[in-house]
Amino acid sequence: MAVERTFAIIKPHVVVDGNSGDVISLIERNGFDIVGMRKMHISQELAQQFYNVHNQKPFFGELVGNIAASPVIVMALERDGAIGAWRDLMGATNPDAAAIGTLRAMFGKNISFNATHGSDAPETASYELGLFFADL
Ligand code: CMP
Repeated sequence: MAVERTFAIIKPHVVVDGNSGDVISLIERNGFDIVGMRKMHISQELAQQFYNVHNQKPFFGELVGNIAASPVIVMALERDGAIGAWRDLMGATNPDAAAIGTLRAMFGKNISFNATHGSDAPETASYELGLFFADL
C-alpha cells in the first residue's frame, strides 16, 4: 500500500474534556507519523470554507458553529493507506454506530459531537491539508 497523508481534527469537546492526549497516543500506537500538528481556534470563515461541501445540508450552521466553538488540534498524518486507516481508527460518523475500540465510540457523544474528523478521499485530503498545512 502506498504512503499517504490525511488531514485530521481532534474536535473542540475532546480538547475541552482533556482527552486529546489519549487520542494522540492512539494515533501513534496505530502507526501514524504526525508530520504536522497545531492547536488552533478555527474561525467561522475558515470553518465555512472547510465544510463547504456540506453547505446545502440542514445542519451546516450547527456544524460550522461547533467546530469554531473553541480550540481544536489539527494534524497531518502519514502512513501506508493513511486515509482509510484513519477512518477505520475513527469509526462510523455516528458514535452510536461506531465499533468498540474506535475513537468515536470512546470519545464521541453524538453525531454532532463525534470527536474527530478525517478526510474521506485523496482529493478531500489535498484540499483540507492545503487549507491548514499549506507549508507541507
Ligand atoms: P465530520 O467528519 O467532521 O464531517 C462532517 C460532519 O457533519 C460529521 O463529522 C458530523 O459531525 C456532522 N454530521 C453528519 N451528519 C449529520 C447530521 N445528520 N446532523 C448533524 N451533524 C451531522
